[in-house]
Amino acid sequence: MSKPPIMKVEGLGISFGGLKAVADVSFDVGRNEVKTVIGPNGAGKSTLFNLISGALRPRSGRVLIDDVVITGKSAAQIKAHGLSRSFQITNLFFDLTVRENLRLAAQYLEPARHSWLPMKRSIRAASKVDELLGRFTLKAKADDFVGSLSHGEQRRLEIAVCLASEPKVLMLDEPTQGMSHGDTEDTKELIRGLASSVTILLIEHDVSLVMDISDSIVVMHQGRKLAEGSPASVRQDPAVQAAYFGSA
Ligand SMILES: Nc1ncnc2c1ncn2[C@@H]1O[C@H](COP(=O)(O)OP(=O)(O)OP(=O)(O)O)[C@@H](O)[C@H]1O
Ligand SMILES: [Mg+2]
Repeated sequence: MSKPPIMKVEGLGISFGGLKAVADVSFDVGRNEVKTVIGPNGAGKSTLFNLISGALRPRSGRVLIDDVVITGKSAAQIKAHGLSRSFQITNLFFDLTVRENLRLAAQYLEPARHSWLPMKRSIRAASKVDELLGRFTLKAKADDFVGSLSHGEQRRLEIAVCLASEPKVLMLDEPTQGMSHGDTEDTKELIRGLASSVTILLIEHDVSLVMDISDSIVVMHQGRKLAEGSPASVRQDPAVQAAYFGSA
């Protein structure tokens, strides 16, 4: 890769009791790359995401974004360095509307000195909300409560919420989990479209989606990085076939 990586993951590790949930995992993420982490259940993928995003503090290792160490910083500082993530379980305010959920997330774009102004004066946040409602085809649902949306719509909104703060790196943990085939196809196209403007680090189980969409893949197995490379090279790797495709 010619351009310097936007993100470096260096030797991350954590144990829960005697279990090495993540052990010495390192990889780079290139700018505007779609990088996908795959592996069997319990391989350590979500824990790896928690270590990268700061939800968990690693026992070893660190993460850099544009050569700045984010490990050990607060959630707000990590966001300010351009990292945004979704969770495996939907993380939205169900008793607020679609627009209100986006509005809260986009408020981050307003300078702190605007924080005493009425929300309707936050022009940058308001235009971001409109842009996201259009891009994620949620305009017709803007004033509906999130609790009344379909599962697919909720997951789509969750990605939109993550993008509202204009991150450099977007981390998505199984965005198609529980989705219908049609919604999965839509999400695939959506992610592909996003990659021109944001770097994407994904966890995903749908193998055909992973193979179609990823520039490169990291395979996790029992907390360790088993393999890394292009979709074709990873697919042909005998160790990966034994650990993952054999069982998937
Ligand atoms: N907070 C925790 N305390 C103790 N053990 C944990 C904790 N979080 C995860 N684990 C264990 O660490 C291992 C890795 O879990 P993790 O959730 O990262 O796997 P995963 O690859 O995301 O799996 P899945 O595909 O099912 O989502 C598992 O054995 C899990 O039981
Ligand atoms: Mg997981």
